[in-house]
Parts: sequence; C-alpha cells; structure tokens
Amino acid sequence: MSLGLPQIQLNSGHSIPALAFGTGGKRDPTAQNDPRQALLDALQEDTQPYSLQAAWSIMENLKQEGLRKDIGLSNFGASDIATLSQSWTFVPAMNQIELSPHCAHDPRTSAIVDICAKHHITPMAYSSLSPLRTPREHFPDDPGAPQSTCPISSGFEEGQPLRPLLHRIGSQRGGMTETQVLLAWTWQVFRGCIVTTTDKRWRMGEYLRTFDHAPLTQEELDSISKVGETKYYRRYPRALA
Ligand SMILES: NC(=O)c1ccc[n+]([C@@H]2O[C@H](COP(=O)([O-])OP(=O)(O)OC[C@H]3O[C@@H](n4cnc5c(N)ncnc54)[C@H](OP(=O)(O)O)[C@@H]3O)[C@@H](O)[C@H]2O)c1
Repeated sequence: MSLGLPQIQLNSGHSIPALAFGTGGKRDPTAQNDPRQALLDALQEDTQPYSLQAAWSIMENLKQEGLRKDIGLSNFGASDIATLSQSWTFVPAMNQIELSPHCAHDPRTSAIVDICAKHHITPMAYSSLSPLRTPREHFPDDPGAPQSTCPISSGFEEGQPLRPLLHRIGSQRGGMTETQVLLAWTWQVFRGCIVTTTDKRWRMGEYLRTFDHAPLTQEELDSISKVGETKYYRRYPRALA
C-alpha cells in the first residue's frame, strides 16, 4: 500500500532491535519512489548479517533524501545506542521502549533512559498501561530480571498490586481514573512521550483528559514507583535486547 505522502514524519526501527518499517501494510509494486520498498531493497543488497550501524546509515539516507523528517529507534538497549553513537550522522529522534512502574526499576531500563537523556533522544513509552491489563504472554526465563516480591503466577487479579493504589490516588484527586493516574505517572517520570491505543472513543477522551488534572505530587509518584517495584513485569519481554 502506498501512503501517497511525499514524506513520512517519523520512522522508527520497529523490531528487536533490527530496523525496519512499521508493522502492517502491503507493498504496492506499482508505486513510484516507495520509501518502504527503497529500504527493503537496500537491506536486501546489504551483506547479511548487516550491522546496526549499516542499517542506521540506510535510515539516515532516507532522512537525507527528505523521505523521512525524523528517524528513530525501537527497543534499542543502552549498548546498542552506544554502538550506534560511534558512527551516526543523525541522532535518533526517539527510542520506543516499554515503560511502566513494573519495569522502570529494571537497571536495563534505567540504562536506556540515561543514555537517551545523554544524547537527547526522546524516550517513547509503550505498554504503560500493562499493569491494568491481562498479561499477553507467559513470563519467559530472563536471568537479568529484577526479583519480584509480588507473585505473578497466582492469577493476574492478585498480580495487579498497583490497581488499589491508583484507584485511591485517583479518588483523592476528585475523579481521576486508574488509567489517567498511570499515564500521568509515566509522563511525569520519563518526560518523554507516550504511545497508547484503544478502539473506544470514550477511552480516547479519558486518555486526553489526563492532562486536565494537576500533576501528581512527588509523594504520589514515589508511592506508585515503590509498589510498581514489587513486581517485575514486561508485556513484551522478548523485545528487551
Ligand atoms: N515498539 C514496540 O515493540 C511496541 C510494542 C508494543 C506496542 N507498541 C506500540 O505501542 C502502542 C500501544 O501499545 P499497548 O497496547 O501495549 O499500549 P497500552 O497503553 O499499554 O495499552 C492500551 C490498552 O490498554 C487498555 N486499557 C486502558 N485502560 C484500561 C483499564 N483501566 N483496564 C484495562 N485495560 C485498559 C485499552 O483497552 P481498550 O482498547 O479496551 O480501551 C488499550 O487497549 C501500540 O499501538 C504500538 O504502536 C510498540
């Protein structure tokens, strides 16, 4: 499918941690100057396995040619970013990573956030609402994972330690929902940008009204972080390189 756009605003390498175009969408072989096809062709010609730096330089070419306004990363760990920084011409605009109170305390997350700050790369949080959702997949072996004191195998309701706290904070603030409190925590703690989703119009309104409320206090932020740390959980654990 050709998007019919002269330029795409932002393209993040959307894989683990390889670089590729977004998800979905079929290619239109008749499309002229299809940037998606251009990247795929370039990758095809490259010798396998291509390095992160080689892949990033292809992304940079897209930006240089004006086919992308900004280019970014997805699920890049701190060492991947350090590797890339040795040769990049353009600093990535953002790095999309999973960020929630259940994985913020993971030293691997802090390392990513720190190196992003050092290079002025915006952290783009995904799956920030995972503490309120049913889990996506079983917890795989992850030797680098912090210990959880909250059991995660005893059913997800018992495994949602944050819900009562979010509810209490929301009620004390005059009707903020659990979802809004969690979004506010993510935004205030990481000062980046949040990517979320819904198929419901009312939920979209709920998300947007988060920012009508006064910011959470430091005490509220800390209490959420503290309870979040009792459980280590990632919705996309395999994305952690
Ligand atoms: N780079 C990557 O590897 C990667 C990985 C995952 C996702 N992403 C991106 O991030 C975007 C968001 O991902 P995500 O789905 O993981 O986001 P999310 O913000 O964690 O979750 C959004 C979901 O939360 C549900 N929700 C909101 N409040 C709730 C509540 N109180 N109780 C139960 N459920 C609640 C919504 O359900 P309803 O639909 O019912 O409103 C919605 O489906 C995706 O569209 C994708 O673009 C990127």
